[in-house]
Amino acid sequence: MGNELKQTIKEMVAVGKGILAADESVKTATKRLASINVESTEETRRQYRNLMLTSPEIEKYICGVILFEETLSQKSDSGILFPKLLAQRGIVPGIKVDEGLAEFEGSIEQYTKGLDGLGERLEKYKEYGCRFAKWRAVYSISETTPTEMAIRRNAQDLAKYAKTCQEHGVVPIVEPEVLIDGAHSIDACHKATEKVLREVFSALKRENVMIDCAILKPSMVISGKEANNRAGVDEVAKRTIKVLKANVPPELPSINFLSGGQTPQEATAHLNRMHTLNESLPWYVSFSYARALQDPALKAWQGKDENIRAAQQAFLKRAKLNSLAAMGKYKEEMENMDLDMAILN
Ligand code: 13P
Repeated sequence: MGNELKQTIKEMVAVGKGILAADESVKTATKRLASINVESTEETRRQYRNLMLTSPEIEKYICGVILFEETLSQKSDSGILFPKLLAQRGIVPGIKVDEGLAEFEGSIEQYTKGLDGLGERLEKYKEYGCRFAKWRAVYSISETTPTEMAIRRNAQDLAKYAKTCQEHGVVPIVEPEVLIDGAHSIDACHKATEKVLREVFSALKRENVMIDCAILKPSMVISGKEANNRAGVDEVAKRTIKVLKANVPPELPSINFLSGGQTPQEATAHLNRMHTLNESLPWYVSFSYARALQDPALKAWQGKDENIRAAQQAFLKRAKLNSLAAMGKYKEEMENMDLDMAILN
């Protein structure tokens, strides 16, 4: 079992590569498609996933893709099951295994559903070729939250999920997301992230999760979306690395950030800055973005066949730029460069 996990980690910790999160639930996918006035059906969701997953040469920048259950049994235009198509391109297929959020009684805070029957589901997903999984917990920042209760419960569930994954030979991506929603300061985000990460890693330890066979997908330490005087790129990068160094054991192989509502450019610039701070990082630091990789492609597509190429170009551009950022080689002026220009050397 250990070897299986180690092999997956080896393929997913590749310099200059990151993870594409394409695991939107039907509800979230419907929201995304509505933003371009496309009706959400099994077929339009398949077409959209087909567009991204068949983009030429994504394997240069993407080493893993997180899929949603529905996509596992869908096929590309060329008739190949998506997980198989990814594996053929040297990309590790993964699966979102949580079953969404529920509210604690009498509270605005949320926990994540999906622990019941997780082992059986993992076995089914493995038959489709999935080798890693994702579970997302969320924490909102307000005067009274996140509470100790929510922090403890979500950490415990993340740890139980991670343990179950490893018992089934599946690498767990542990995703504690401190939400960007609100007008809070970067300081409030820093404090909340500190508490959340501390509790997550102590729960993982209590459950005997093998830290060297897991991946962390955290949010960055960032000002609330509606805050005045939002912190700049430098401060976000410095504070994020600081909180990670204080709470994440060095034996963890990889940290792959979520984008969490940052603009695509912000998400790329922040990741890049973390690599240019001149600090030694004990883990690989990269991306596992959904919106920051997909949004420009979604806008370019508009549900029209004649736009597929332009949409793939837009997607590849974000993938390339984030790949460069994961090596500290991104520059803002690249945003305006034509994709065909040799921006990779
Ligand atoms: P975003 O990058 O859009 O935040 O999505 C990442 C993700 O997987 C959320 O669970």
